[in-house]
Amino acid sequence: MDKKKDILSLDEFSVEQINEFLIQTESFAEILKRDIKKVPALRGKTIINLFFEPSTRTKVSFEIAAKRLSADLINFNTSSSSLRKGESEIDTIKTINSMENDLIIIRHSDSGYINYFAKNVPVPVVNAGDGKHEHPTQALLDLYTIYKNFTNLKDLKIAIIGDILNSRVARSDIKLFNKMGMDVKVVAPSMLMPEDFSSFKTKFANNIDEVISDADVLYMLRMQFERQERKFYPSIKEYNKFLSLDMARFNLMKKDAILMHPGPVNRGIEISGEVMDIETLNKDKIKINAQISNGVAVRMALLYYALS
Ligand code: NCD
Repeated sequence: MDKKKDILSLDEFSVEQINEFLIQTESFAEILKRDIKKVPALRGKTIINLFFEPSTRTKVSFEIAAKRLSADLINFNTSSSSLRKGESEIDTIKTINSMENDLIIIRHSDSGYINYFAKNVPVPVVNAGDGKHEHPTQALLDLYTIYKNFTNLKDLKIAIIGDILNSRVARSDIKLFNKMGMDVKVVAPSMLMPEDFSSFKTKFANNIDEVISDADVLYMLRMQFERQERKFYPSIKEYNKFLSLDMARFNLMKKDAILMHPGPVNRGIEISGEVMDIETLNKDKIKINAQISNGVAVRMALLYYALS
């Protein structure tokens, strides 16, 4: 594989490289099924988890992935760090650079900040989500989850539904799914669409009912209230009417279709509590927990790529 220093966006990787990541993920997933879920692949390597924004699944997922590969992972707690004492972020970067480490995983609320950060550190940097911009490891775990369910990705019909405007997951997913030849349709109210949407070269609908019985993959997005500078939608009731997945709509999904969501889910907004509560009985169809499990194997593959 042609080697990149950082993993900032999957745009930089070819279709062949993405396919190779999927195949490698498969072998890391196999390790996770063993009794002893640990291999020495990254023994002696030090990884720093640097999260400037809240996270549960992504942060823990990277931590488990690093530990399964025998790396030492240090969680840098930004809320109790010297940033709170007035240290600038650039000086924090210098401080971290001065300590021996081999790779930095970073999440930040400013779109594009991580690209700047990566230019200023000598070690590989993995983007764990920057503002409304990119979330490459989420996109790869989403692709892997789809790949595990459908042998052929080409022309697979995928509908991405909800707050496209504020979602880095949507941006990274749309680009990756298009690259892999999938048939992507975005479903959102006009106020939750980015102005540069035409550059995504993707079909568009306003109402979930236009895609519900046709999509192979239904990908629901979280309403990103914390990133919405103003009220983008009249009411939750209105949102439920046109965009949410309730039991009646769930029952209209195609027989082999799957349901995905990057988490965390706002119950009753993008997906009803009723649908959320039947995942254990409907594992063939609802893949929200499968995405989380797959995330560990995908991140093992990416950390291994970046450090080997
Ligand atoms: C996503 C994120 O933080 O961008 N979550 C995640 O990484 N699992 C999506 C979201 O917060 O809506």
